[in-house]
Amino acid sequence: MEIGTGKSYAKIILLGEHAVVYGEPAIALPVKSVGLSARVTPQPDGRQTVTSSFFTGNLNAGQLTNFAGIAMLIRRLLIFFNAKNQGFHLTITSALPSERGMGSSAATAVAVVRAFYDAFQTSLSHDTLLNWAAVSEKALHGNPSGLDAATASAERPQWFVRGKAPRSIMMPRNGVLLIADTGVAGQTKIAVGAVADRLKQNPKMYRPLIKDIGDTVRQAALALAQDDIITLGQLFNRDQADLSALGVSSPDLDRLINVAIDNGAYGAKLTGSGMGGCMIALAASDQAVAITTALKAANAAKVWEYHFESK
Ligand code: MEV
Repeated sequence: MEIGTGKSYAKIILLGEHAVVYGEPAIALPVKSVGLSARVTPQPDGRQTVTSSFFTGNLNAGQLTNFAGIAMLIRRLLIFFNAKNQGFHLTITSALPSERGMGSSAATAVAVVRAFYDAFQTSLSHDTLLNWAAVSEKALHGNPSGLDAATASAERPQWFVRGKAPRSIMMPRNGVLLIADTGVAGQTKIAVGAVADRLKQNPKMYRPLIKDIGDTVRQAALALAQDDIITLGQLFNRDQADLSALGVSSPDLDRLINVAIDNGAYGAKLTGSGMGGCMIALAASDQAVAITTALKAANAAKVWEYHFESK
């Protein structure tokens, strides 16, 4: 084993969360300015230690709290590399808030897999990377579509359908995406489980919402092809209405979404699994300052600006 490094990005789902679990398409982008890196260093004493903003401890001493999915992933990687008892120190440095819909767990998995493959000097295909990331994502989220890891590992915005190879999709040529954190944790497993329960209990009511989200995403692809940011904003609002009817919005998300719309956004919605976490708003670039100021005044814990023209 050598020193190994790996990186990944925050993911932002533009449209299609939740319905993507049931086979509908989604559109998501990696936010390269909000990144995560993993660095693994061999240790001769056999200790398997981790330092990160959300977990610090000794894996082979059984200190797994908040890290069980990633710990399992690391154990499987070590078995794969025939290095079960190899000592190492893993450092994870992340600009992503966890449990906020920005894909922190998937980004951690992607960077960790890349770092271990680098440490064992083994080439890694994108398919293999996504299969490994699914190990911890399944442990953490139950039924992940794979969208989060596909986006956290991508260099370009993604059109994603579960079980198919993701492909790149063009973004608007200008405008801004504002990403605002409610400051409230939202747990993917709980939100995905709540949607699954509703679909099981009342398919007549909830199935059409999933289908409408899929139609919204397909229309968004057309709007993107025509660089029609105003229609895209309206589709954000339609997606949000469906997600809200699915029960995964929250008063904090609704409040920030309304603030963005009242201050001139073309459209706004939750992003990720919801029930907390982040919202996104699409706007003309010259509205960015006013909307950001208003979101902060409405108690957003943090606001990121993603300018399409500079990408
Ligand atoms: C979570 O970031 C996105 C969801 O669609 C779940 C998934 O795709 O696995 C809610």
